Amino acid sequence: MYNNSKRKWWKEAVVYQLYPRSFKDTNGDGIGDLKGIIEKLDYIKSLGIDVVWMNPVYESPNDDMGYDIADYRAIMQQFGTMEDFDVLLKGLHARRIKLIMDLVVNHTSDEHAWFKESKKTRDNPYRNYYHWWDAEKGKPPYRWSIFDKESNAWKYDATTNSYYFHIFSEKQPDLNWENPQVRREVYDMMKFWMDKGIDGFRLDVITCISKDIAFPELPKDMQVGGWFPYYAKGPHLHEYLQEMNREVFSKYDCMNVGEASGISIEDALLFVDEDRNELQTFYHFDHTGFGISNTNFMYADDSNRDLVQWKKTFERWDKVFIEKGWGTIYLGNHDMSRMTSRYGNDSETYRELSAKMLHTFLLSMRATPYIYNGDEIGMVNTNHTNIENYQDVYTINYYNQLKQKSEDYEGFLNSHATISRDNGRTPMQWSNATQAGFTTGKPWLAVNENYKKLNVQEQEDRPDSVLNYFRKMIQLRKNNLTLIYGAFELIDENNKQIFAYTRQLGNEKLLIVLNFSDTAATLNSKKDLSKAKMLICNYEEASDNHLFKPYEAVIYKL
Ligand code: NOJ
Repeated sequence: MYNNSKRKWWKEAVVYQLYPRSFKDTNGDGIGDLKGIIEKLDYIKSLGIDVVWMNPVYESPNDDMGYDIADYRAIMQQFGTMEDFDVLLKGLHARRIKLIMDLVVNHTSDEHAWFKESKKTRDNPYRNYYHWWDAEKGKPPYRWSIFDKESNAWKYDATTNSYYFHIFSEKQPDLNWENPQVRREVYDMMKFWMDKGIDGFRLDVITCISKDIAFPELPKDMQVGGWFPYYAKGPHLHEYLQEMNREVFSKYDCMNVGEASGISIEDALLFVDEDRNELQTFYHFDHTGFGISNTNFMYADDSNRDLVQWKKTFERWDKVFIEKGWGTIYLGNHDMSRMTSRYGNDSETYRELSAKMLHTFLLSMRATPYIYNGDEIGMVNTNHTNIENYQDVYTINYYNQLKQKSEDYEGFLNSHATISRDNGRTPMQWSNATQAGFTTGKPWLAVNENYKKLNVQEQEDRPDSVLNYFRKMIQLRKNNLTLIYGAFELIDENNKQIFAYTRQLGNEKLLIVLNFSDTAATLNSKKDLSKAKMLICNYEEASDNHLFKPYEAVIYKL
């Protein structure tokens, strides 16, 4: 049996990621709000999830949709008030659902009071809250910026004849974590939220808080994406995380998950080994290159979909946490296009089957699952190829840059259409009413045109809907410790269509078979499955022994 002392609520939890801007609008301004979430609390409860991770709701000018925070202790006016927040938190807790908030502390907004002070004079007390480079030293060594209009992470500011550093957009200056005063302010702010009763944080780009602030020249041949060693995992990262743990996490029963860009298998346990007192979990990106170019992650590449390699990635990451630490698993979030379109198949024939298959996967792995709102009904991409349809600073700034340089901006958009972040941010499809029941006004981002057919209301009462399968699958996981803690073993590993594995805890052994393709596929196994008990299947009738139908998903008890 599983060692009971290792059981933890956050390992057994299913997390629902909620993107407030697109969830439910109650005042007709086309932007989701806290009252909208409150209105949907019973729906959230009905899913069977345990924790909500809510994307940033703090005051922000929304250059990067809330990831540019102007006031960490205030609620964004578009979303409501602190009173609404308190009602929401109470409503979640009354339903025994925990809440984790986004902690965005690698950078602030340039409209944050700290930055406004910092840029005034070189001797301002807040100067050292950010990274400045005095212009008389010459131009700072080039750093690539992911959202900048010119892809340049240094922005010249004439007020003090200096450049400031921003990995993301120019409206997101990086905080200087070397400054102990910055760290103290951040911990105080974290305690403010914890004392309000929230249950933990999702830590935005946390590996970036410590970086090489000598800012050495980058190698000449550096590829887009090769920048992590220069921007992240700096010399003090673990020191800061341990300090954060000591100052904040250790004082509460909380759950914290780091967004760990650039993390490798080798350094994984440094973050989550219980004895090191840093984080409990993080999420990596190793499996997210599926369908994306290997040489430039800003472009799609349909030929880059190697299921065999993909399976091995999950196997490798599972092994890391056999003795210590704990993993997370996800296929979609607000930074990615829709999971059903990317890893499944969004055609009419296979949309529902493949969405259910992906839920079977997410909820049967040995890691805490994160499900992104809308995926519970199998929402899919919009695939826009017209820039007018985009709101994301990332898409818009890069598109404009290419256009200005007369480079292939149309090619970029055609490719980007399937992988853009806005695909995952379209409003939640509640019903077949106007604007999918999301708003009575004009939504900030257009609703997917398929809402008349694909919506919560349509799926609620249909027993074989994606929504009801998702609920069933959550219950199966909850009632079965083997699905949570059982050892994972990949089988038939070179099968190019099927992802199959066993989960074993004590004497109980489960077999999970997932056909990731649109044709029937054979599982190479000697086991006679006709005798095995089937716990769940996404088809009305499971396949005959080893031949699995397109996108079929089955869990057997062996
Ligand atoms: C990661 C967040 O998930 C993303 O949405 C944001 O743009 C960047 N960090 C910058 O905060």
